[in-house]
Amino acid sequence: MQTTQVYAVNRDVADCLQTRTEEIAAPPAGHVRVRVEAAGVSYGDLLFQRGVVPGGPKPPFVPGCDLTGVVESVGAGVTGLAPGQRVTALVASGGYTTAVNLPAERVVPVPDGVDPVHAAAVSLNYFIAYQMLHRVARVRSGQRILVHGASGGVGLAFLQLAEHIGGVTVFGTASAANLDVVRRHGAVAIDYRDQDFANVVRGSVDAGGELNAWTAYDKNGTVDAAFDPIGGAHFWRSYSVLRRGGRLVAYGQNDALRDGKPNMFIGAVGFLGGIVAPKLRPDGRRTGFYNAWSLEKSQPSAYREDLTEVLNLLSADKIAPRSVRTVPLREAERVFADLERGVTGKIVFDCTE
Ligand SMILES: NC(=O)c1ccc[n+]([C@@H]2O[C@H](COP(=O)([O-])OP(=O)(O)OC[C@H]3O[C@@H](n4cnc5c(N)ncnc54)[C@H](OP(=O)(O)O)[C@@H]3O)[C@@H](O)[C@H]2O)c1
Repeated sequence: MQTTQVYAVNRDVADCLQTRTEEIAAPPAGHVRVRVEAAGVSYGDLLFQRGVVPGGPKPPFVPGCDLTGVVESVGAGVTGLAPGQRVTALVASGGYTTAVNLPAERVVPVPDGVDPVHAAAVSLNYFIAYQMLHRVARVRSGQRILVHGASGGVGLAFLQLAEHIGGVTVFGTASAANLDVVRRHGAVAIDYRDQDFANVVRGSVDAGGELNAWTAYDKNGTVDAAFDPIGGAHFWRSYSVLRRGGRLVAYGQNDALRDGKPNMFIGAVGFLGGIVAPKLRPDGRRTGFYNAWSLEKSQPSAYREDLTEVLNLLSADKIAPRSVRTVPLREAERVFADLERGVTGKIVFDCTE
């Protein structure tokens, strides 16, 4: 059998992806072969290809951190999975493919009736938001949190999952065109281009006239947790609005890629100034960088439990990604150009064409 994969072959802006068709072996012991139906696209895929994520894969590699498909065959010793079962998996790389062999323990069954495109649209974004909310920051009802990029794929996942907790006051940053989406999910919407989010959180200015109607504000307010994918000096600013005992969860470095150019200096400023330096201050506030694999060693059961929970929430209509768009896998190069310009909503590759 053959598999078609999209490789990132260099760090360039154009002509950076190449489609290759190769033979795929029968699944070895303990593995299953998945015929991929849908694979999620994340801004992080572009950051990996450009080489702005320290420790990221080197070309040539197959981008894509999640895939959903159907088990086609199982290797020796695999129990509990049979051909025909729809599954989802998070992968460090390799999602942009039509077929792949994966260790059986990495694949998680998709509940009956769940569309594979929807499963692919939530698996990475909602999984990481779920882990950061519940396992890293342990957000509870009555707390206040700050979510940057709140109308984006991961940002919206935070808003929906926080609504599900209930009683959480959320401050969400977005650009002007997306503030309504943030408000619709019950968050205080902050225009990151026009307003200083720290002032809004502290209650010293209002959020577009909304402050008076919002009773949960405190003068000199702080947050229990801030979730920041922006990077650079932005990490420090998020840290500055934490309460004593609060936590900055950094999980991206968007600003390290500006106008198509990687800026490793911004990445270093974010890491040293926003993550490391605050740890030297005895102020009771904590900082750390999260990625989807952060908890694998300390909490080995978390991967399956949390991905299963996200798929169950999807099946129960308790979460829903915003404007999902499917694109054939062979059009990956065009999708990378779109990511560069900024996309609204979630793109999922159709890997069946
Ligand atoms: N650590 C991990 O394991 C992991 C896994 C997946 C993704 N990520 C990271 O998560 C981040 C978000 O990914 P995504 O797929 O959700 O991207 P996305 O859908 O493109 O959303 C990013 C959002 O950020 C907003 N934004 C840009 N600059 C901003 C600023 N200065 N302040 C506030 N918001 C700003 C944009 O809002 P507007 O459109 O309104 O301008 C956009 O909606 C990326 O950095 C990605 O690398 C990390």
